[in-house]
Amino acid sequence: MSNHDQEKNHRPVKRNEMSRRQFLSYTLGGATAFMAAGVTLPMIRFAVDPILKKKSESTWVKVVEEAKVTNEPQEFKFNIHQIDGWYVSDPEQTAWITKDEQGNYFALSPVCKHLGCTIGWNTEKNNEYVCPCHGAHYTMDGKNLSVAPKPLDEYDLKVESGWIYLGPIKANTRV
Ligand code: FES
Repeated sequence: MSNHDQEKNHRPVKRNEMSRRQFLSYTLGGATAFMAAGVTLPMIRFAVDPILKKKSESTWVKVVEEAKVTNEPQEFKFNIHQIDGWYVSDPEQTAWITKDEQGNYFALSPVCKHLGCTIGWNTEKNNEYVCPCHGAHYTMDGKNLSVAPKPLDEYDLKVESGWIYLGPIKANTRV
């Protein structure tokens, strides 16, 4: 064998594998990133979760005994439990509840559909809802007669075991 051949045979094999240093740095880097994600992601989730959630669904609120509701609208107050992100509150609500001639109960929102003042029943002795701010008038069913562009909103209503329960506000279904 010539010298040249011997040199050729002893030339170090060129390795394509990564060095030990590279291997360690990739492994440690990956493990660190994994652990950082494990700590950070739950924190982000914890911080934004209440914002991502929808406002808590309103549930039915027990408002008044069926027997107390008459053909004349009456004002009833009740509280709703509301969770909006981090903010929890129990705001007071008002509903005007009436029994119609067929014996069906309905509940109207007191918020005037003109600019949001609070209406009152029969304040002008004309059997209508009247708004004190700019004089909107509504029928007993909440139909807008003047000034306001829309009928009064209505609450979802159900009767259970002699009690009237109110749910979310919706557009008036009676007019
Ligand atoms: S807010 Fe009721 S009439 Fe204007």
